[in-house]
Amino acid sequence: MKRKMNPISYLWKKCLRNYRDYGISVFFKKAFLYLLYPLYRNQTYLIYSIDLSKHSITQTVPPPPEYTYRFIGTHEVELIDKIEKMEEWIGVRSKLVNGYKCLACLKEDVVAGFNIVAFDDIDIPLIKFKKKLRDGQCFSVQISVHPDYRSCGIGTTLRKEIFTNLRNMGYTRLYGGTQQQNDSNRRLSQKVGLRVFASINYRYILGLERHKVKRVKDVQKTA
Ligand SMILES: CC(C)(COP(=O)(O)OP(=O)(O)OC[C@H]1O[C@@H](n2cnc3c(N)ncnc32)[C@H](O)[C@@H]1OP(=O)(O)O)[C@@H](O)C(=O)NCCC(=O)NCCS
Repeated sequence: MKRKMNPISYLWKKCLRNYRDYGISVFFKKAFLYLLYPLYRNQTYLIYSIDLSKHSITQTVPPPPEYTYRFIGTHEVELIDKIEKMEEWIGVRSKLVNGYKCLACLKEDVVAGFNIVAFDDIDIPLIKFKKKLRDGQCFSVQISVHPDYRSCGIGTTLRKEIFTNLRNMGYTRLYGGTQQQNDSNRRLSQKVGLRVFASINYRYILGLERHKVKRVKDVQKTA
């Protein structure tokens, strides 16, 4: 069951995470935009995908041997709590109950990172985008590495492991999305062979909503 978080504590955790992940200028920009939320929103997401039958990632530096990578189950309450501490919005408990998979990178009982994958829909709440997936397709909801463990190859290994596991489970294509300004995730995606093929811009002004989808050529011009 999903536990309700006090809205003030939720907002505070969200602000801290944005500060930690993207720095002070993005923190202030996002805080300002949250204030405008009821009136105005403008978000661009890059959508990428990979053919799982063809992927091959060569890691120049092998991942440290003390980390293990495995899917976690609904009964692993402490690990789930740790993941929800890292990303306060994710609701991993209810996602696992609803058939999502969560691959975790563990160092003993520490969660160094995780990748959550959905099998029914592409669902990106920030841009109010939802699309049914076909057979053989899946969608990466979130990849995160704990700040203390970043830039040592865990993100790359999580991707490598999830691609192999999904392929072994019979999936042929993985989709994902990232905010245009998320440099580290864009670079990681490029490195592991996830190719951007579209961008979706969502704009909301005083109750009027609009989605604008651009194909990859346009994306390359604007990225
Ligand atoms: C994106 C993220 C998962 C990368 O994890 P990571 O373990 O640091 O990634 P790796 O160490 O495997 O690095 C992979 C590549 O990402 C890029 N990268 C990693 N950290 C970066 C940074 N701070 N700035 C720019 N590029 C970065 C590099 O190109 C790197 O390849 P290289 O080392 O060969 O140059 C991590 O930064 C993160 O959790 N960010 C916050 C959450 C997030 O934004 N998730 C994506 C939204 S779905």
